[in-house]
Amino acid sequence: MLAYSYSQYGSADVVSRIEVPTPIAKPDEVLIRVVATTVSAGDWRARSLTMPKGLGLLGRLVFGITGPRKPILGTEFSGIIDKVGSEVSTFQAGDAVIGFPGASFGAHAEFITMPADGKLTKKPDTVSFAEAAAIPFGGTTAYDFLVNKAKLKSGDRVLINGASGSVGSASVQIAKHLGAKVTAVCSGKNTDLVQKLGADRVIDYRTESIVEDGVQYDMVIDAVGTLPWSQAQHAIRPGGKMVLIAGKTSDMFFGGLKATIKGKKMVGGVATESREIVEAVVDLAAQGILRPVIDRRYAFDDMRAAHAHVDTGRKMGNVVVAVMPKVSTEIAMNTKDLVNV
Ligand SMILES: NC(=O)c1ccc[n+]([C@@H]2O[C@H](COP(=O)([O-])OP(=O)(O)OC[C@H]3O[C@@H](n4cnc5c(N)ncnc54)[C@H](OP(=O)(O)O)[C@@H]3O)[C@@H](O)[C@H]2O)c1
Repeated sequence: MLAYSYSQYGSADVVSRIEVPTPIAKPDEVLIRVVATTVSAGDWRARSLTMPKGLGLLGRLVFGITGPRKPILGTEFSGIIDKVGSEVSTFQAGDAVIGFPGASFGAHAEFITMPADGKLTKKPDTVSFAEAAAIPFGGTTAYDFLVNKAKLKSGDRVLINGASGSVGSASVQIAKHLGAKVTAVCSGKNTDLVQKLGADRVIDYRTESIVEDGVQYDMVIDAVGTLPWSQAQHAIRPGGKMVLIAGKTSDMFFGGLKATIKGKKMVGGVATESREIVEAVVDLAAQGILRPVIDRRYAFDDMRAAHAHVDTGRKMGNVVVAVMPKVSTEIAMNTKDLVNV
């Protein structure tokens, strides 16, 4: 099968096309033909080894000391089950699925294997393969931080910094669904987008101050890493929370203490990856509550260009790569449509 791999950390140029044996599903696994995948911030971080200041060594411990430990990137995908292992009864060949290998990577390939009881669920018919591929990374991160970790409530006033990214755009939609009043921070060009996603108010970070005199929120979410605690604290009401999805190293390590001293809370860490959370966000997508934002679509041949676009740091929502541009009913036995991804 064809796949994209990298053997050293660096720019999009380190990604190259290779031919490798198609993996074989173990008895408890399924083999999936990938239809669409994305280049996510997770791929960018692992490939470029861009880490918050002082965490370069930690990055190498996670991604590989002398070079990448997982040479095939790709954190999320949509696809069609090709073969099931002998012990698998929950999926059958032809099922359309959404998978989230996440930190295990491996979706930038024509085929991938996953445990049948892993982060894998059936694709709703109402969601296209392209949209489906773009649900897990941003959707599960937003869901885990807002719902599970920070316990956002109806009526909460929330500020979301980085609202136009993959995590930010999912956060705006999930926060609105939960009944929050959302102020979204993005650059002027993305104002329309975040308003369409449901934001009640928009702050253009290029021309306005994010922290405004006298305006306080129940929760401030940083989904891009440009709003340090030193600034954010002034926008959080007493007893309110900062949700640090991305941020400065000192805030990651000492933010909890700094917040407690000020009578506030800091919620941070790494998003939990689980099948339950994937199912929860796919269910929201099936109901039309979470619509993944797609910025650009690339052909599989143009994987490097997709990486290069993500490297600009300006992507709007998600960047989708069509691995199999047309899905025939013959392959997707349980999918009614002949789809252009
Ligand atoms: N803690 C965890 O477990 C976890 C999990 C997933 C992701 N993350 C991290 O979360 C961050 C966001 O991920 P993502 O996938 O959402 O990234 P992304 O989609 O690549 O973010 C790109 C967006 O960021 C916006 N942006 C850039 N600079 C900005 C600024 N100064 N202020 C406000 N918005 C700005 C850009 O909009 P403009 O063009 O308008 O500037 C663009 O739309 C990454 O650092 C990622 O590593 C953490």
